[in-house]
Amino acid sequence: MAETVKLAYQGKTYEFPVLEGTCGEKAIDISTLRTTTGLITFDPGYMSTGSCQSQITYLDGEKGILLYRGYPIEQIAEKSSFIETACLLIYGELPTREQLDYFQYHLVHHSMVHESIKNLYDGFPNNPHPMAVCSAIVGSLATFYQNELNVRNEREVEIAIHRLMAKLPTIAAYSYKKSIGQPFQYPDNTLSYSANFLKMMFSLPCEPYEVDEDAAKVLDVLLILHADHEQNCSTSTVRLVGSSMCNLFASVSSAIYALWGPLHGGANQAVIEMLQNIHDDGGDVNKYVQKAKDPNDSFRLMGFGHRVYKNFDPRSRIIKKLADKIFSKPGAQEPLLDIALQLEEIAIKDSYFIEKKLYPNVDFYSGLIYRTLNIPINMFPVMFAIGRLPGWIAQWKELQEDKQFKIGRPRQLYKGSPKRDYVAIENRQE
Ligand code: CMC
Repeated sequence: MAETVKLAYQGKTYEFPVLEGTCGEKAIDISTLRTTTGLITFDPGYMSTGSCQSQITYLDGEKGILLYRGYPIEQIAEKSSFIETACLLIYGELPTREQLDYFQYHLVHHSMVHESIKNLYDGFPNNPHPMAVCSAIVGSLATFYQNELNVRNEREVEIAIHRLMAKLPTIAAYSYKKSIGQPFQYPDNTLSYSANFLKMMFSLPCEPYEVDEDAAKVLDVLLILHADHEQNCSTSTVRLVGSSMCNLFASVSSAIYALWGPLHGGANQAVIEMLQNIHDDGGDVNKYVQKAKDPNDSFRLMGFGHRVYKNFDPRSRIIKKLADKIFSKPGAQEPLLDIALQLEEIAIKDSYFIEKKLYPNVDFYSGLIYRTLNIPINMFPVMFAIGRLPGWIAQWKELQEDKQFKIGRPRQLYKGSPKRDYVAIENRQE
């Protein structure tokens, strides 16, 4: 007998089915609530609302579990590559050698952008934030491939996926080059995804450049850790925009903007800025912990807390290990590391943070690692976007293929003025 939930309202009882997820989590199916009862649910910030059924990523915030298509993040980070992870997320299974080669071949052969795209970069003011540029250029791809944007055409979707995966590192590196006034560097199709990105970022036409393979490997792991995180703000954006049957480029362009905010993908940038502030202010970590605890102070410890992880963030453990390895190398210097370590030490023992279940999240250490790769601070959210791209694509594709596909359209509780008559301007009160 299927489980149900009963709702008693105005003398009537209504029954709603309970759905069960693979790992035992349960949800009340209230899709008929409004038509049967006239009621809607009210849930700002979607604290208790499931917006879709998905087979891509599972996370358990209490136990600190994160699975990509069932595989634990710890195993994927240790054994896989970013491209294989992207294949897994987008197509559902770990690829065979042949499938991986096919995917890789297409990523390599779409890595250049149309030459006219370079002109778009010149339209921006000097020193633009690369996140804004990236999103705009990704959106503009829809103009270059406007005859291949049918979201119900499997072949057109496939080629859009290849193009976007292949071109985002190029677009991102060009955004950086534009921001520092250096010439764009074409992609090098002989290199891995991460190595090619580093080369486009840091090479110059006037001198040889050797990619540091260790740095490329570290970057690959960081990208894997960011590859998907179920229905977060930017992923929900990609789904909502995609639900109007909007093409992949426009949907992902919107997701990049959603990711930019300091409470989401902008947090790794905000962490470094916060650590730098503490450093420049004399390094008194305690002062900032007190500020974060003060209810009258809007300051928050960036890199702490998570909407879902209320015990630990499994990605932050992997990153911490990576950071320990990098910073224990002779010659590795990071003046902000000491402040970060002190902050973590104080905060994880402090009752305020323990009671509110605020632990270091994925962004707490990722910024410090990006700095060792010489990635400038305003590129941090862009790095997050490159990492999150396979997740956005997988979620967008799953939505388009969903048998229950519906345009996203939440309801609201109107609290404004009741109906009233228009007042002529001369009769309005000051
Ligand atoms: N420092 C100090 N206090 C905090 C912090 C923090 N970082 N995070 C939450 N709190 C307090 C908050 O003031 C609130 O207190 P009270 O109950 O007294 O009002 C309580 O903890 C709950 O906070 P919330 O904002 O209701 O929690 P949320 O689940 O809506 O927000 C969050 C999650 C990540 C937005 C929040 O913890 C935050 O602002 N963290 C700092 C920014 C950050 O590191 N973001 C990266 C998130 S991980 C990357 C990603 O997946 O996007």
